[in-house]
Amino acid sequence: MVTGATGNLGREVVDRLQAHGAHVRCLVRDRAAPHPGVEWAVGDLTNPAALRAALVGIDAVFLIWPLLDSALAHDLVAELIAAAPRVVYLSSTAIDDEADRQSDPIVQVHADVEALLRNAGLRPTVLRSDTLASNARGWIPQLQAGDVVSGPDIARTAVVDERDAADAAVAVLLGHYDQLDDKPPLLTGPEVLGRADQVALLGVALRRRLRFQAATADLSRSRMLTGGGSEQLVEALFAASLRRPESNRITDHVERLTGRPAGTFARWAIDHAGEFS
Ligand SMILES: NC(=O)c1ccc[n+]([C@@H]2O[C@H](COP(=O)([O-])OP(=O)(O)OC[C@H]3O[C@@H](n4cnc5c(N)ncnc54)[C@H](OP(=O)(O)O)[C@@H]3O)[C@@H](O)[C@H]2O)c1
Repeated sequence: MVTGATGNLGREVVDRLQAHGAHVRCLVRDRAAPHPGVEWAVGDLTNPAALRAALVGIDAVFLIWPLLDSALAHDLVAELIAAAPRVVYLSSTAIDDEADRQSDPIVQVHADVEALLRNAGLRPTVLRSDTLASNARGWIPQLQAGDVVSGPDIARTAVVDERDAADAAVAVLLGHYDQLDDKPPLLTGPEVLGRADQVALLGVALRRRLRFQAATADLSRSRMLTGGGSEQLVEALFAASLRRPESNRITDHVERLTGRPAGTFARWAIDHAGEFS
């Protein structure tokens, strides 16, 4: 079963599982089936009855937790214990295992969900991902209106192509690989990039002179609120955008899980250029 199957990462996971001939069920909130040829179950990650029905006959779950409140995951954990599938949880490279509290609410939620799953005895396989290249899709409205991407100047990260993250997840889901060692794999791209770097690379792919403009905190907040985010979500995203220290970790874990080196953001930009015009 794939959760978040309509999302940027989840839909790549579903495509790959189908290509491997796996029998896939998607947990979706909306009835419209996200992928032709896959089974789907309608339900929310916080709805125990829907989860119970969706988990019947499932032997492995690709799990994301997109909510800001980890306490809401208790019902999910209870249903997972009852159904006893293997669990592959997509977490964050920003977790600091030595810290009592994580750097911002989003990382804290990932750390809390990891702990919930482990403490429940579910022995999840945790994959910690750096920021996904597909987050750049958030710039599409701005780039359809002009050549400037304006937003908070967030920490530089080792941006990972979501197709690589999906390949890694599928390798684990299909049992082709065990955990690399007793620590969660860290899925990163091959280079550490800032927002300005990403926008410039996108410009090369689009053959346009694009530039990044750092926006003030107030402007960034009000734009996010106008964009429809709740105040809680906007504050969490804003705190995440200020995340420090910057990520300077580049690993070979994508390659160790998939057999191929991680792709560059430049490649991602070329492959997705059509979405930005
Ligand atoms: N993006 C990153 O840089 C990054 C980095 C590290 C970890 N992650 C983790 O990976 C996850 C997936 O990332 P993404 O970029 O693919 O996200 P995304 O494109 O925003 O997709 C989120 C998915 O979650 C589903 N969803 C949201 N709330 C739900 C709920 N209450 N119950 C069931 N499904 C729900 C959405 O379904 P609907 O279609 O119904 O809205 C959608 O399919 C993130 O949520 C995060 O936990 C992301």
